[in-house]
Amino acid sequence: MTYSIIGSGKVGTALARQFARNAIPVGIANTRGALSLAALTDELGGYLIAQTLEQALSADVVILAIPFSAHRAIGRMFPDWHNRTIIDAMNTYGVALEELEGQASTDVVARAFAGGHVVKTFNQLPAALLAKDPAQDGGRRVMFVWGRDQQANTRVTELVERLGFAPISLGTIDDGGTLLGLGGPLILQNIIKYQ
Ligand SMILES: NC(=O)c1ccc[n+]([C@@H]2O[C@H](COP(=O)([O-])OP(=O)(O)OC[C@H]3O[C@@H](n4cnc5c(N)ncnc54)[C@H](OP(=O)(O)O)[C@@H]3O)[C@@H](O)[C@H]2O)c1
Repeated sequence: MTYSIIGSGKVGTALARQFARNAIPVGIANTRGALSLAALTDELGGYLIAQTLEQALSADVVILAIPFSAHRAIGRMFPDWHNRTIIDAMNTYGVALEELEGQASTDVVARAFAGGHVVKTFNQLPAALLAKDPAQDGGRRVMFVWGRDQQANTRVTELVERLGFAPISLGTIDDGGTLLGLGGPLILQNIIKYQ
């Protein structure tokens, strides 16, 4: 299974550190290219691989850690996402409600990734907390996972577990996207699970 992170800002960097902490290789791309990533790739000792956007978007699991406004341009880069998994770690700060047309933001994102499966996770915590070791006080920090395709949910739940978090899958329930969307009850919940 190959992984990549699109975006090397606060969330992208936090996730890159979690991959490196667990010795899981991951590609990363941004708009500015590999040179801008040199300090981070040097720091993370070979687990983080600077890639072109095209290379990063070819991973089995692609994590979107970019502004919501950028997701459509990324989606257009492939006409068919061939059953691949796209993780929506974005929140809709500054996005007009009309743009969402009453839908969960992840469903809006899914429209831009035809043929792929979009799963929401990693968006719930501030980046500074997301970057911390998920092991805390003898337990593990909870990360909720939701999407409309059970196979993709399972794939992402396994990744969340490998990164050291305690995944809680919301499965494919209709309300999952709203629960995890901006303003939803699961946003900003720093929950520790003790088993
Ligand atoms: N910050 C938080 O605490 C937090 C917490 C949870 C969720 N989120 C969500 O996570 C997402 C990222 O937030 P952030 O705080 O990490 O933002 P950020 O620090 O501003 O970083 C955004 C990154 O996205 C990259 N980017 C923008 N457009 C792109 C494109 N078309 N193709 C490739 N890369 C592109 C930028 O590339 P360059 O570096 O080349 O400019 C930058 O690396 C947002 O949707 C935000 O709502 C943020």
